[in-house]
Amino acid sequence: MPERTQVAIVGAGPAGLLLSHLLAEAGISSIVIDSRTREQIETTIRAGILEQGTVEVLHETGASDRVLTVGDRHDGIYLGFEGELHHIDFTSLIGRNVWLYPQHEVLIDLIAARLKGGQDLRFGVTAQRVEDAESARPKVIATDADGAELTIEADGVVGADGSRSVVRQAIVGSPGGYFREYPFAWFGILCEAPPSADELIYSNSPDGFALISQRSPTVQRMYFQCDPEADPDALSEAQIWDELQRRTPGTELNEGRIFQRDVLKFRSFVAYEMRKGRAVIVGDAAHTVPPTGAKGMNLAVADVVLLDRAIRALLENDERPLDAFSETAMRRVWKAQQFSWWMTSMLHTMPEASDFDRRRQVAELRTVTDSRAGMTYLAEAYTGWPLPR
Ligand code: PHB
Repeated sequence: MPERTQVAIVGAGPAGLLLSHLLAEAGISSIVIDSRTREQIETTIRAGILEQGTVEVLHETGASDRVLTVGDRHDGIYLGFEGELHHIDFTSLIGRNVWLYPQHEVLIDLIAARLKGGQDLRFGVTAQRVEDAESARPKVIATDADGAELTIEADGVVGADGSRSVVRQAIVGSPGGYFREYPFAWFGILCEAPPSADELIYSNSPDGFALISQRSPTVQRMYFQCDPEADPDALSEAQIWDELQRRTPGTELNEGRIFQRDVLKFRSFVAYEMRKGRAVIVGDAAHTVPPTGAKGMNLAVADVVLLDRAIRALLENDERPLDAFSETAMRRVWKAQQFSWWMTSMLHTMPEASDFDRRRQVAELRTVTDSRAGMTYLAEAYTGWPLPR
């Protein structure tokens, strides 16, 4: 016998959990499934920057109080090039800012809030496929941790199941979207050290890009551009510090024990469609951005805010917001793709770059930092365009 719910949500990441939270506020039931364990979800290290609108949604809907108490407000970023730091002061430029609050902390808060709210949330349950997406009764076929099959029948199915989405198959097939690969990756570390600067540093250098991010007064997150095939265990701690110090000329980084390292591959992807009949995809299932603009989780939240409104309207017999969902969401997605691509191309060294290319790149950075208009464009995109209210 199939189980019944109003909305079947595949994926207990930021998008799936937040959607179940917003729907529950409107009295709409959902079942959320995820193939991972709760512990895996709560401990996987991901990005850390939340747009102002993301923070407002999390806080105002009671999904997270800790975002404001544990999270850290950042009023700008530094762009580093030619041995100097240039501060982009979001607060004085546009009166908006971002928060440093790691994604796994958001997930800890969301899982706690959903369980407290009585959410049907199932870990270790793997979606296999979606059936009847274009009927009034779409279904998710899944297997539980023991391999037993279950069917969830719903009024709508939402795929919030990440870049290897199963739900996407039912909407656009495979590959099902626009792709772009990059000839580099990020070597990421977590280390025990005090912060090296009061804001994040995005550094362009002749030796390649580095990002000096943060986590807490005693733990820092840093990245440097590397070969996509790099082996994270191949470098010694001294070699890693040498790479980072060379790429941040003019800044003395505080060093400390490195206790985590990983290589993050870069990709841009946008699905052709985010909806087919009563199945929808959101977040990484529908689009992937390179991490340079810190847009990934924020885009997922923007999708979900829009979808929640569309589902609420549908229950009042207004189908227009759902019909417009894919196109409306895509406008923001493509702006974020453009911003992430722009930050990436302006800050990284292309393998085949000539001296001309390098000088042009520095001029592009100066065009931003010498101009209030240039800095304002960056500030608006980085802090996030307004969400629908
Ligand atoms: C991070 O802290 O992990 C981080 C920050 C900013 C980015 C990407 C990642 O653009």
